[in-house]
Amino acid sequence: MDVKKAINKRRAYRSLEPVEITEELIKDFAESAQIAPSCMNKQPWKFVFIHEREQLEKIFKTLSSGNKWVEKASLIIGVFNKPEDDCIIGERLYYLFDTGMATAFMILRATELGLVAHPIAGFNEQKAKEILGINKDERLITLIIIGKHSKEVNPVLSEPMKLGEKSRPPRKLLEEFIFINKYNPK
Ligand SMILES: Cc1cc2nc3c(=O)[nH]c(=O)nc-3n(C[C@H](O)[C@H](O)[C@H](O)COP(=O)(O)O)c2cc1C
Repeated sequence: MDVKKAINKRRAYRSLEPVEITEELIKDFAESAQIAPSCMNKQPWKFVFIHEREQLEKIFKTLSSGNKWVEKASLIIGVFNKPEDDCIIGERLYYLFDTGMATAFMILRATELGLVAHPIAGFNEQKAKEILGINKDERLITLIIIGKHSKEVNPVLSEPMKLGEKSRPPRKLLEEFIFINKYNPK
């Protein structure tokens, strides 16, 4: 198994070049999400695959100003659902957790296929939902930006973003988020 390889290779790159989007590729992504675990097997996730130029252009208009790089996307996957689609156990709402797992499976599969799959939160949810025909009571949790990594750094990127193309942004030390046997923060 090469899961660790895909985990290590995955990066949220922002310099993209076009990639051909086929029905086969969309099915492959969908099948990777389909078998993810979920609370009581509720499978709460929903995905809208956007690859028609006209529809992509409309979505680009909903992006935050720092996300101009997204305009090079070949495919955008809208991830949506609502809390009631999954287990609600007291104050524990599982819809984001389960949908996040299914989405991560898809992202790793994209990585394995040599593609960039970059999740973003920087978009106008209400406007994007209207364009996609998603009901008001659903949350459009993220858009996954799909393309091929370009070696040429996209000039629209900010300086920190340009640095991010070269090396992975720093991470917390393990000691900062790992606890053994008991939660004992320093
Ligand atoms: C939920 C979520 C929202 C994000 N939103 C944005 C975004 O709006 N714009 C952007 O450029 N990157 C966005 N990112 C990418 C992160 O900035 C990136 O994953 C992080 O800096 C770590 O870099 P790495 O994924 O390459 O290791 C988002 C990532 C996640 C998981």
